[in-house]
Amino acid sequence: APVFAAVTIDIDPAKPGAVINKNVYGQFAEHLGTGVYEGMWVGPKSNIPNTRGWRNDVVGALKELHVPLVRWPGGCFADVYHWRDGIGPQDKRPSNVHTNADGVVEIDAINAVGTHEFFDLIDMLGADAYVNGNVGTGSVQEMSDWVEYMTSDGGSPLARLRAQNGREKPFKVAYFGIGNELWGCGGNMKPEYYANLYSNYEHFLWAPEKSRPKMIASGGSGFDTTWTDVLSKELKDRTIGISVHQYTVPTGNWDIKGKTLGFKEGEWISTLANTLKMDQLVKDHVAVLDKNDPEKKIGLMIDEWGTWYDEEKDAKSALFQQNSLRDALVAALNFHIFHEHAERVPMTTIAQMVNVLQAMILTDKEKMVLTPTYYAFQMYVPFQDATSLPLAIKDNTSYTLGALTIPGVSASAARAKDGKLYLALVNTDPSNAVDVAVNVAGTELQGAAGKVLTAATMDAHNTFQNPQAIKPAAFSARAAGDKLSIKVPAKAVMVVALEE
Ligand code: AHR
Repeated sequence: APVFAAVTIDIDPAKPGAVINKNVYGQFAEHLGTGVYEGMWVGPKSNIPNTRGWRNDVVGALKELHVPLVRWPGGCFADVYHWRDGIGPQDKRPSNVHTNADGVVEIDAINAVGTHEFFDLIDMLGADAYVNGNVGTGSVQEMSDWVEYMTSDGGSPLARLRAQNGREKPFKVAYFGIGNELWGCGGNMKPEYYANLYSNYEHFLWAPEKSRPKMIASGGSGFDTTWTDVLSKELKDRTIGISVHQYTVPTGNWDIKGKTLGFKEGEWISTLANTLKMDQLVKDHVAVLDKNDPEKKIGLMIDEWGTWYDEEKDAKSALFQQNSLRDALVAALNFHIFHEHAERVPMTTIAQMVNVLQAMILTDKEKMVLTPTYYAFQMYVPFQDATSLPLAIKDNTSYTLGALTIPGVSASAARAKDGKLYLALVNTDPSNAVDVAVNVAGTELQGAAGKVLTAATMDAHNTFQNPQAIKPAAFSARAAGDKLSIKVPAKAVMVVALEE
């Protein structure tokens, strides 16, 4: 007998929305903690199998995510980084001690990962590069030289220096960020002051026309739209995007953020409720862009997002945090929001790729684990460059605890490049499964097949001792009569291809 579902999802493929830029699935790799050194780079002489210093296990796992874009070298680190320290023979590079405004001390004892090494990683991943320049402690000349060093194809002295260092051809710098968090660690500035500085810096970032990076202005944080407003008024035609940073803190209180593991249900729902605020945040910033940039030339680049928990006392390195099923739901709920705003959100980079904050991968010396967030990114690969399809959720359940209520089901649909129609579903309720009836206008669906990620506990996670505790399982459903009903388990992320 057909199952009568509580929730109905109607998809109309005849009314496609915007293309979901693959760069929405971008990553951020900062020189912070073990995010680069150990996490990805071990050096060519390491016993850990590597290719020119980059860990084979980590690079191999990242390839599975089809990482489209990597932002590097920071973050706050970008505004204390001097690129000349990271070129030339590795044994001649200086050591640095960087303290950034967040109080994080970075000892880059070897500067082994510099421009050439970064682009080696980028080439191995087949990703685009988003290089972030130094406004805070750098100069116009230094930044201009870096861009020339990377992009010049002529016989300029910096192009010759690059060739001497082993790279004849220019690097492809797809995007270049001018500073980071200028309101804070990047220099405590006012937006008007930064807007002037940006224009000055950008003016001198010469590059051959065909290889000129797309320039990104560093914007504000959270719901404050002042930076978006000032920069979108002042920098028209000088930027293709303004960044915004928004982290998910379980309690909403940066002093006591909340635990990584062993949290109660109250922090499950507050984390998800806080992450869902991303939707309003995007709407607020987009409303400002629509006012100042009606031609829609400027994108909202959410180039730092993800969960930020209290650091464990025995954390192995700065901002290292475990990652549980809850993080996978956070990732998926954000993906759905980004898809919905695909027209104005062409890029996001999650903080961060390895061993820092909401990471894809955690490492401990030679060991590596894939996190639930990794699996969320993997399951959503078909959404990269897919065409979003609007959907209507009818009779949605709600999930309530105490004073908080959030939608039970979150969904997103798209026509992927492989021609298939994909549907992603999240059930936020940690205790109850939900039946979802799916209708596609003009089509009699035959079934659905894909993957589901769930576990018995809210904080299910993988450890170095038990790296397979949580991973996606195969899922399929058949239509009964003319109805397709999908049972989404409690606390789950699911991505299925619909059989039309
Ligand atoms: O992602 C960690 C830090 O958070 C970044 O360096 C900075 O930009 C932000 O404050």
